[in-house]
Amino acid sequence: MKQTILVTGGTGYIGSHTCVELLENGYDVVIADNLSNSKRQVVDRIQEVAGKAVTFYEVDVADEQALARVFAAHAIDAVIHFAGLKAVGESVEKPLAYYQNNLNATMSLLVVMSRFGVNKIAFSSSATVYIDPAPPIREDAPLGCTNPYGWTKFMSEIIITDWQKTNGDNAAVLLRYFNPIGAHESGKMGEDPQGIPNNLFPYITRVAGGAYPHLNIFGADYDTPDGTGVRDYIHVVDLARGHVLALKYLDAHNGALPVNLGTGLGYSVFDVLRAYERASGKEIPFVIQPRRAGDVASTYADPTLARELLGWTAEKTLDDMCLSGCRWQSLNPNGYED
Ligand code: NAD
Ligand code: UD1
Repeated sequence: MKQTILVTGGTGYIGSHTCVELLENGYDVVIADNLSNSKRQVVDRIQEVAGKAVTFYEVDVADEQALARVFAAHAIDAVIHFAGLKAVGESVEKPLAYYQNNLNATMSLLVVMSRFGVNKIAFSSSATVYIDPAPPIREDAPLGCTNPYGWTKFMSEIIITDWQKTNGDNAAVLLRYFNPIGAHESGKMGEDPQGIPNNLFPYITRVAGGAYPHLNIFGADYDTPDGTGVRDYIHVVDLARGHVLALKYLDAHNGALPVNLGTGLGYSVFDVLRAYERASGKEIPFVIQPRRAGDVASTYADPTLARELLGWTAEKTLDDMCLSGCRWQSLNPNGYED
């Protein structure tokens, strides 16, 4: 039978790509997003790309009453919970805003789910919950965080796990993402960060687009093959597919399961830069800067559990990530503004 999925944060970067995958896999989609970090135009793009309609509510997920009206209007079968603030640096400057938004959203959602008898949730967690990211990282690696954003993910995992135990029918998958990059192959959807991007990939796309003169490389003296930081970059569409498989897993299993979504491969800053140059045909100037505080040399996932339990493996290459990101950037130089 056709299921209806509530996608909180569904107009955001990962949420929007996941909505397309859900629609293409026969789910009905209801989005709840307060547009604090996304634009309404995304709803049109999702529908255009998937060729199907979604229902959109401009709602703060932390607002229990408003959220309850969404649940009252739809027979929701499961929730994918993306809604949250995600900038690490900003979370250090405004910790209370992060705890308030991210934790209240998670708690309000669980309260309303329980009231309406909805007992399946897939949650957007992060590899940032691993305190000692010595690769390859398995899900049983030590947990702990270095910034308020990370703690909101860590605490949300605990809150969801405790909620799960209260009812034998409750089921949760805690998806720990590594570094999502790239865009939909249509070129109609992608990452649209506000302000100066902190993360590597959107910064490179902006340099290629002419917004900035060069990439700052934060450290070339790490103990890695070329001295720059190594990360597990994962195509956002592969990540989105992981959510569909997580929902299928939730149909058949209870419990609260943490699962890594990563490729298991590590690429350096220079690997990404060179791949983007190949994809765009443009030279990306760079300047070597000191290391960024808090960065580690190398981290990547052990994605075995996702393969064994969800039947998921990343399929797309670093070149796919760069080609799609480049297409999105060149077709939408101002993001969703146009
Ligand atoms: P995003 O900012 O593009 O999307 C998040 C969406 O949530 C936005 O559309 C925003 O408007 C919405 N939102 C925020 N607070 C809300 C609230 N209280 N009520 C309703 N809507 C709210 O971010 P993204 O990159 O798509 O990330 C999605 C989720 O995945 C986040 O929870 C993020 O922390 C997590 N995550 C992201 C990354 C990454 O690198 N992008 C890595 C690990 C985990
Ligand atoms: C970031 C988040 C982390 C999150 C992860 C997954 C920060 C500080 N951390 O980590 O919480 O879990 O994404 O999405 O935002 N780099 C440059 N120049 C730049 C930007 C980055 O050289 O302008 C380098 C970094 O030093 C690092 C690599 O590129 O070696 C990747 O950086 P970034 O994209 O910010 O991701 P993470 O640091 O892995």
